[in-house]
Amino acid sequence: MNFRTIPDDGQPLKVVLVGVGGMGQAWLRAIEGCPEVELVGLVDLNVAAAQAIADGLDRRVTVGADAVAVAAISGGQAVIDVTVPVAHHPVTTASLFAGLPVLGEKPVASTVAQGLSLAAASEITGELFMVSQSRRYNDQLWEFKEQIAAIGPAGVLTTEFFKAPHFGGFRDEMDHPLLLDMAVHQLDSARYLLGGDPISVYCEEYNPSWSWYRGDAGCTAIFEMAGGARYVFTGSWCSPGLETSWNGSWRASGEHGSALWNGDQAPEVEALGSTQPIAGARPLGDGIDGSLREFVHALRTGETPMGEVHENVYSLAMVEAAIESGRRRARVVLADVMTAALDTALETEAREDVSVVLKSWQASGGYRG
Ligand SMILES: NC(=O)c1ccc[n+]([C@@H]2O[C@H](COP(=O)([O-])OP(=O)(O)OC[C@H]3O[C@@H](n4cnc5c(N)ncnc54)[C@H](O)[C@@H]3O)[C@@H](O)[C@H]2O)c1
Repeated sequence: MNFRTIPDDGQPLKVVLVGVGGMGQAWLRAIEGCPEVELVGLVDLNVAAAQAIADGLDRRVTVGADAVAVAAISGGQAVIDVTVPVAHHPVTTASLFAGLPVLGEKPVASTVAQGLSLAAASEITGELFMVSQSRRYNDQLWEFKEQIAAIGPAGVLTTEFFKAPHFGGFRDEMDHPLLLDMAVHQLDSARYLLGGDPISVYCEEYNPSWSWYRGDAGCTAIFEMAGGARYVFTGSWCSPGLETSWNGSWRASGEHGSALWNGDQAPEVEALGSTQPIAGARPLGDGIDGSLREFVHALRTGETPMGEVHENVYSLAMVEAAIESGRRRARVVLADVMTAALDTALETEAREDVSVVLKSWQASGGYRG
């Protein structure tokens, strides 16, 4: 999608940070460490929390409870949305319609239906909405992708994710803590590594008898991906001993060899014959530093960034499809999930102009991304 650019005038991009919770503080450090952006506003429903952080800065920034109002006062040119998932849709919608591009934390929204509404809002306003999938910004992941390309089209890609964190708080009470809060990272990385979108999934979700989570903390999902490869995610969040890295442990198998990545160290490849990976580009930074810099680069140049809303909704769609498959104990086709999400988006959309775009997608046979 073409979006409005903000040409480089030699000045840093003025940004407003929305949400000053746990992850918001990490974003504050990323913004303060990036010379290409300047923090001009801090927003949270808990204004006192935002004010306390503002008081600790070495200069004045505008503080408030509303992103659009704070941007108007402070001259903010873009919004960085690090609120809880349920707030992603209202905060991003208001910002886009106020003429502000948005860099938002994952997931794109609470549901795929809301994600489609945001894709439509981005089209109407011409403003960029990029979702930060921070685990994509990793040199080792990019090297692993090159290795996979070198061993031929992958037949199968697997992730094992086994950890035993005691978070306390909302994750312990979620219905699908592993799939919704964690596996969305790996499923998104799988889309990146294989360079294609999912076709279908079969998934079993379960909760081990010793689990300290209310919802299902274990799952195994098999995705058929475009091009025919299978992607298998298997993991548990109550699996003490010999834990994997937070990225998970990966294997890719192709016609000309195999590649392994333990998620923490350089990946390794065993390629048959003379097939060798060719080192190409690397991300602009690590984790959220990388996604922040890619967002600025996109606004300056008009180049579509990774995580642009139209393609990112497929990562959340993989999660929703896996949950649906586990519930029905049946193979679920992603196109059906997208059709149902578009129907729901139309039923629940509050804005007439967004509904018009959603209807046009429906009339042309469905969402095409
Ligand atoms: N990329 C990663 O590795 C990673 C890690 C942790 C969290 N996250 C994501 O970051 C986001 C925030 O997570 P967190 O752990 O910081 O949550 P949190 O609950 O600690 O903080 C969220 C903050 O948002 C504020 N907020 C809620 N609704 C708001 C609204 N409408 N307007 C303004 N402020 C609002 C809350 O008051 C709170 O201060 C989530 O989307 C989460 O999935 C990503």
